[in-house]
Amino acid sequence: MTAALNVVVLAAGMGKRMHSNVPKVLHRVAGKPLLAHVLDAARALQPAPGRFCVVYGHGGEMVREAVCAPDLAFARQEPQLGTGHAVQQALPHLDDSARTLVLYGDVPLVRTETLAALVAASGDGLGVLTVTLDDPSGYGRIVRDAAGRVAAIVEEKDASAPDKAIREINTGIMLLPRAKLRAWLAALSNDNAQHEYYLTDVVRFALRDGVPVVAVETPAQWETLGVNSKAQLAQLERIAQGRIAEKLLEQGVTLADPGRIDVRGTLTIGRDAHIDVNCIFEGDVRLGDDVTIGAHCVLRDVSIADGSEVLPFCHLEGGDIGAHCRIGPFARMRPGTRLDAQVHIGNFVEVKASEMGYGSKANHLAYVGDSVVGRNANIGAGTITCNYDGANKHRTVIEDDVHIGSDVQLVAPVTVGRGATVGAGTTIWRDVPPGGLALNRKDQVHRPQWKRPIK
Ligand code: UD1
Ligand code: CA
Repeated sequence: MTAALNVVVLAAGMGKRMHSNVPKVLHRVAGKPLLAHVLDAARALQPAPGRFCVVYGHGGEMVREAVCAPDLAFARQEPQLGTGHAVQQALPHLDDSARTLVLYGDVPLVRTETLAALVAASGDGLGVLTVTLDDPSGYGRIVRDAAGRVAAIVEEKDASAPDKAIREINTGIMLLPRAKLRAWLAALSNDNAQHEYYLTDVVRFALRDGVPVVAVETPAQWETLGVNSKAQLAQLERIAQGRIAEKLLEQGVTLADPGRIDVRGTLTIGRDAHIDVNCIFEGDVRLGDDVTIGAHCVLRDVSIADGSEVLPFCHLEGGDIGAHCRIGPFARMRPGTRLDAQVHIGNFVEVKASEMGYGSKANHLAYVGDSVVGRNANIGAGTITCNYDGANKHRTVIEDDVHIGSDVQLVAPVTVGRGATVGAGTTIWRDVPPGGLALNRKDQVHRPQWKRPIK
């Protein structure tokens, strides 16, 4: 028995029932294409498989582009004449001295440990992953002899009434022995109800050639589920999210409701984190110890350091938030933002491509864009950095201990010097020196005789 393994992923099926222009295997579960789930499950096998071949048909270029990696070969199957025919197309890419694991590109939740169990149990024999279903209709049935050994796999359309009553089915995931692979595939015929080249006919050949047939049954039905429709895609999404939530709970994260969290990427969390309901995590999100995320937040590609609190309804994307910050409610952080420790970003504040130093605050209704804010600065309500002149973006620099009053416009490029104060309602278009007060003089008038117009 050699250590190396070929992996063939069948992904040529049409996916007609998805009613989509996107190839079926590129639809996503937990933020990742179905096919990528399958490839990653196989890649995690120990030892790692030597060769991977994806058999594609529809949307070939899109499939290649979506999962392209140096370890992958692709084989086109056109027309699609059955699962056996599909594996035949992969043969030129396979190592003859290795066994071949056959997976389906539309069965995304299969676990590495289950594949490893199949590989280990099969030895030099033919391995078949099976599952017992309450309703086996549509699937190939596992027919066993009196001694309980696998005698055949019979497709639904070729099955007799007693065979149809069998509830143990072929998941389609198989381990093909190395010695016979080419001969068996060459001997397949399409002499059956569907006129397809059935991969399952290799069971007959194995019995004829005295090669042991090993059935490994998984108790976890969910990992054998395939996607043929949007309803099934939605069902698998819930299963995948349930498993992610379970893992987070095992790590010690507090989830207000494990049924109301969605992770579409990787979420790394420290100790004693707390996540309220209906939060979505996309891409690579890292939360430190004691981080609290309020309800209804969307976080994408952000890291948040220890002890910070995100209040409800925040949208945070692409940046780093330091320790013990307070963000939100209703805050928006856009890519390229770095907040030092103890920063406060309050409601209806948008921060884009900016740095804010230790202890600085923008608590209400502000836009801070392309800015560098020093330490312990305070940005008043209604303050806007006017960073865009219609053609180019310009920087605003707000130095340490600056106090900006309410409703101030900072027309970039501009610098407000350390410790300066800017009066409410001021438009700053020239640099402000350190210290002192900057303001625009505006007179207030009152006309006691003035009358409102009448309709
Ligand atoms: C196949 C098995 C059946 C098993 C069932 C599990 C055969 C003959 N039958 O059924 O025993 O219970 O899977 O779902 O193998 N594909 C190709 N090219 C083809 C045909 C299929 O790439 O020409 C791919 C599909 O994209 C899919 C997989 O193979 O990922 C299975 O095809 P599908 O038609 O869903 O399964 P059946 O052939 O009906
Ligand atoms: Ca079929």
